[in-house]
Amino acid sequence: MEWTREKRYLPYQDWDADTLMHLQAQAANSPYQMRYHLHPISGLINDPNGFSYFDGAYHLFYQSYPFGAVHGLKSWWHFKSTDMVHWENLGLGIELDTMADSHGAYSGSAREIDGKLFIMYTGNHRDENWVRTPYQIGAWMDKNNKVSDKTILFKNPDHITEHFRDPQIIKENDTYYAILGAQDKKEKHGHIDVWKSQDLKNWEELGFLDFTNEDMGYMIECPNIVRVDGKVVVIFCPQGLDKKVAAYDDIYPNMYVIADDIDWENHKLINPGKLHNLDHGFDVYATQAFNAPDGNAYEVSWVGLPDTTYPTDDENWANCLSQVKELHLKSDKLIQTPVKAISSIRKNEASISNQVVSDQAGQQFELELTIKANQSDTLHLAANNDLSNSLQLNFDTKNGKLVLDRAHAGQKVAVDYGESRAITLSPNHDLKLDIFVDHSLIEVFVNDGEKVLTGRYFADQTNKKIAFAQDIDYTGKLWQMQTIL
Ligand code: FRU
Repeated sequence: MEWTREKRYLPYQDWDADTLMHLQAQAANSPYQMRYHLHPISGLINDPNGFSYFDGAYHLFYQSYPFGAVHGLKSWWHFKSTDMVHWENLGLGIELDTMADSHGAYSGSAREIDGKLFIMYTGNHRDENWVRTPYQIGAWMDKNNKVSDKTILFKNPDHITEHFRDPQIIKENDTYYAILGAQDKKEKHGHIDVWKSQDLKNWEELGFLDFTNEDMGYMIECPNIVRVDGKVVVIFCPQGLDKKVAAYDDIYPNMYVIADDIDWENHKLINPGKLHNLDHGFDVYATQAFNAPDGNAYEVSWVGLPDTTYPTDDENWANCLSQVKELHLKSDKLIQTPVKAISSIRKNEASISNQVVSDQAGQQFELELTIKANQSDTLHLAANNDLSNSLQLNFDTKNGKLVLDRAHAGQKVAVDYGESRAITLSPNHDLKLDIFVDHSLIEVFVNDGEKVLTGRYFADQTNKKIAFAQDIDYTGKLWQMQTIL
């Protein structure tokens, strides 16, 4: 079947129920499907959207194209949770029912305002010549999850191209601000554009955020600003960034900058630091973060990359979201840790210290390890019996190095961008790893969240073994994880 433009943009109501049911069954029954991470009900998902706290619960949406593993006509799909681990599927969150979002409801954010959830997102409209207008839309969701009163807030100003999207709504000092990804018309460079409003109706452009002297490539997607432990953190996705400006491995990186503060009126970060990669593995993109009423900042990422094919495309579904992480700062670096409630889905705890961790672990577990200093070895996950096929973590706690290697872990992904990812550690130190595996997703938290390596892998699900290549000095715990969705 060929994915023509016409087919990708076919209105949802023109698809028949049998096709959709078949697609849902394919996604649900795939051996690669995640069981305790948010994943597609059918088709393709990408960015997390509208991550917020409203009416006593956390709300999280994702970009969804329900009819296949392609970036077709996008809508928002809605989930709700009280602990950010157990999620309730609430179905289609934003329907495509106005001129302004006729060609897709792209990414955006949400926050509680006066007893309703205010949602701000990019609606795409295309004319008969397929020329796109990106409208920034405001909508209101009530406590019954009904979205109404969609209004166009503003569209791209004259100096910005059609690449103008992903608004994050922020309130500070009784003023609303929105930041958006933008490309200027003159130089075709990527920026974060800052807007301001007192009433959510009348909006004024303040200008591009001044946060670096470097050229950020040709576009910035999904900018986010959160306050973390007294500082300001900007999380964003530059496209076409020169690797001399900041090193990265994936097709497009997800980066962050820490600053002392932000001067909104002058759209400027105060004392910004340098660019850092948010994740050191593969496939993390479009991370969305928000400041929750409990005082913490939380984030969640798309685990998938634009312009990239994945093995499950053949099963007509693609991608997933990361688990939700809590954010903190330590020595001017972001610390990312699993939300505490993740421990509530652990079961069958086992203490471990042998070379073979488990013959039957399968691929839905958490593994916590403390590996003593001065050793080097390979930990094989999702391995077959003789360990010739596995997802590998190679570590050296003498010189300080950790490598996640998916070269021998089954079906291949984005090999042109490399099959391993390496980080440095402080030499001669014990290494703490908290590893989450969910069928085709791995998340490795290093030394209590100082670094995180995330990635997809597509191993034979009968490869159930976890083992070290050699007998080394370590302690640890292994849990199976409950299925949540
Ligand atoms: C990032 C992105 C956003 C856009 C959305 C469309 O992955 O390209 O910029 O709003 O995905 O699905």
